[in-house]
Amino acid sequence: VDADPNRIVLCSGYRQGVALVAAALRDRDATRVAVESPGQPEVSEMLSQAGLSAVELPVDADGAQVGRLDDLDVTAAVVTPAHQFPTGVPLSPSRRVGLLDWAARPDGVVLEDDYDGEFRYDRQPVGALQGLDPDHVVYLGTASKSLAPGLRLAWMVLPPSLMEECLAVKGLADTCGVLDQLTLAEFIGSGAYDRHVRSARLRYRRRRDALVAAIAARAPEVRVTGIAAGLHAVLRLPPGTEPSVVQAAAWQGLALHGLAFYRHAQATTEPLDALVVGYGTPPDHAWAGALEALCRVLP
Ligand SMILES: Cc1ncc(COP(=O)(O)O)c(C=O)c1O
Repeated sequence: VDADPNRIVLCSGYRQGVALVAAALRDRDATRVAVESPGQPEVSEMLSQAGLSAVELPVDADGAQVGRLDDLDVTAAVVTPAHQFPTGVPLSPSRRVGLLDWAARPDGVVLEDDYDGEFRYDRQPVGALQGLDPDHVVYLGTASKSLAPGLRLAWMVLPPSLMEECLAVKGLADTCGVLDQLTLAEFIGSGAYDRHVRSARLRYRRRRDALVAAIAARAPEVRVTGIAAGLHAVLRLPPGTEPSVVQAAAWQGLALHGLAFYRHAQATTEPLDALVVGYGTPPDHAWAGALEALCRVLP
């Protein structure tokens, strides 16, 4: 990341970062922003609260179909290139190039959501897009996965052209405590954050491996995907079974969504049956029981 300290803006969670950039884009008379489908539904809500339309950008096995951006008539695109949320695929090298080519237009903006980049297990970290075009890419990181979502601590690295507008909006809505920021700075500066991430990565990796092994043994029909990074996996289910599995999971006390939950409201692509399983949440003492309950509800 090309992170000049003067262009780093702390915000109370990634979502506030999106809201700030959305308000700045709205002030520039933007009206339409592309969002991945499947993707995080809250992003579409943040955009529409800012008066922008969230337009479907379909995702396939190579990540967001960025070749469609020209036809979508959007000013900006919100993407998760390192680990697409929720499918877990990385954006392919040719699409990374395509996305940057598209963004290079005078008013083009990419919001790069790097929500779980600290947790990559099977290969080298995926480089940030922002470093390749800091004038058009907003980089967004968060402590929600690496520390805790309740902290509401996140950071953006902004293109120079968006700085003034975003700070003007943030000045009106500032909710990001300085004590929390200083504590995080101390945590990073002392090396303790790095040690924490290394040990958390090992713990989550063990959980992921246990999940994969349990499903291979207990539900061989189910394919586990998207697991090279992050704290969630996508469990591909036999066609037509997603609603009943989600319902059975709820009866077992498991808080899980099917992939349908993450589809764009006007999605045009074929739905896939799958469960999105966050394996980072249960405390250690509850993990084995949660995994057992999950295996019971799988076909
Ligand atoms: C795709 C995605 N982006 C970003 C975030 C972080 O959001 P926030 O920093 O607002 O908690 C999450 C959730 O942790 C997420 O799933």
